[in-house]
Amino acid sequence: MALLGPVKPIAQGAASDPGQRLRPSLSWPHLIALGIGAIVGTGIYTLTGVGAERAGPAVILSFAIAGAVCACAALAYAELATMIPTAGSAYTYSYSVLGETIAWIVGWSLILEYSLACSTVAVGWSGYLVGWLESTGLHLPAAILNGPHAGGIVNLPAVMVSLAIAAMLMAGTRESATLNIVLVVIKLVALAAFVALALPAFDPAHLHPFMPYGFASHAAGNSTQGVMAAAAIVFFAFYGFDAVATSAEEAKNPGRDLTIGIIGSMALCTSIYILVALAAIGAMPFIELGNSPEPLALVLRVLGHPFAAWAIAGAALVALPSVILVMMYGQSRIFFVMARDGLLPRALAKVSPRTGAPVLVTGITGLFVAAVAGFFRLDEIAELANAGTLVAFIAVGLCMMLLRRRAPEIPRIFRCPAPYLVGTMAVLGCLYLLSSLPEKTLVRFAIWNLIGLLVYALYGRSRSLLVRDVVSAVPVQP
Ligand code: ALA
Repeated sequence: MALLGPVKPIAQGAASDPGQRLRPSLSWPHLIALGIGAIVGTGIYTLTGVGAERAGPAVILSFAIAGAVCACAALAYAELATMIPTAGSAYTYSYSVLGETIAWIVGWSLILEYSLACSTVAVGWSGYLVGWLESTGLHLPAAILNGPHAGGIVNLPAVMVSLAIAAMLMAGTRESATLNIVLVVIKLVALAAFVALALPAFDPAHLHPFMPYGFASHAAGNSTQGVMAAAAIVFFAFYGFDAVATSAEEAKNPGRDLTIGIIGSMALCTSIYILVALAAIGAMPFIELGNSPEPLALVLRVLGHPFAAWAIAGAALVALPSVILVMMYGQSRIFFVMARDGLLPRALAKVSPRTGAPVLVTGITGLFVAAVAGFFRLDEIAELANAGTLVAFIAVGLCMMLLRRRAPEIPRIFRCPAPYLVGTMAVLGCLYLLSSLPEKTLVRFAIWNLIGLLVYALYGRSRSLLVRDVVSAVPVQP
């Protein structure tokens, strides 16, 4: 047993008994749709405004930095996902390379990432709902539209959308791949229309001063400012491609499908984001963007396109729940794999024979997501989700490089170009983004992981199937 807990042999990464494997049913169009379904969401629709508030017009630079770091992580992900094509992504890779303790921390961080990403998107969705209803003349009481931090009682729309998605997943909403594709198209058409309408109104004066708060992240009042402070939050807009890697075990042809799925969805989204951010910043003073819970709709209203504003809000309302769906699904898969390894109670990941869904874990996740969405601030939730994701990405960069040294003989269907450079950039970039988050976010993240380590010490460590050497006796199967 290594210092950091036992290491799962790579050959065991895939559950070798076909009875324990998830069914391979996805090919690359599904994976690209899954990727874009998870990637394009509140990050671009809402956090563009928060980013602008923190960096000024240089939020464009923040998007480019976060995108570059994510692209490096995505390349490392693609190599590992095709080499170890089992469900669980960063958690599974860490288990095979860095040992069980680190794998636990990564898995526990992924649980935070997926859950809080769902809450963030739910709050972003609620912002667009309120603006959309108001544009149709319907005004609801502020007390049920905001959490206590904004003078309200609860953000009820955010709670309701979280619970509704959890209920859909519990009812086995898996076959919605076609619907997901439709929603992805709606999101992309809405963003393309936004750029087409906003870019012609581009005023270069709005880019001055370009970097009013400097580059490095520094504390400012209740938050942080600077290009890196904004990068650390708009980073949220990029992830989700890891949900594709999480489905590796279900890919029909992992080598080709995952590579196209991960890299393709990343590249497409990065280009779109830069264009959308440029169009939004060029259209109006950044301070006004930052104060809006629905910045893209605001831009279109200010530019005199009320119908387009109404339509883009409508598109966000229809399409953003798909991000929650994909993230909550990814969360249940991480739980499933951790339970399959014995680190979490297997009863939690029990699959309903009727719906094929892990009902209990999805229900608990739904309640947690709804509670956070109902009572906490959008930027604070997003930052904490980012912290979890950054830790997972750091682990992925490290695992990719270590495996190149330790196991060069294992065939790699996709080989990350310039692996040590790309891997190092992914690790250092993520560390820099992590250190650019507000101090209180880092403290909260540390507390989450301390709780996690306590659970591991008291439960997972002694029940790990690797330790008990009964890996082949796992009965759960979705
Ligand atoms: N990238 C996803 C979003 O922006 C999580 O909503």
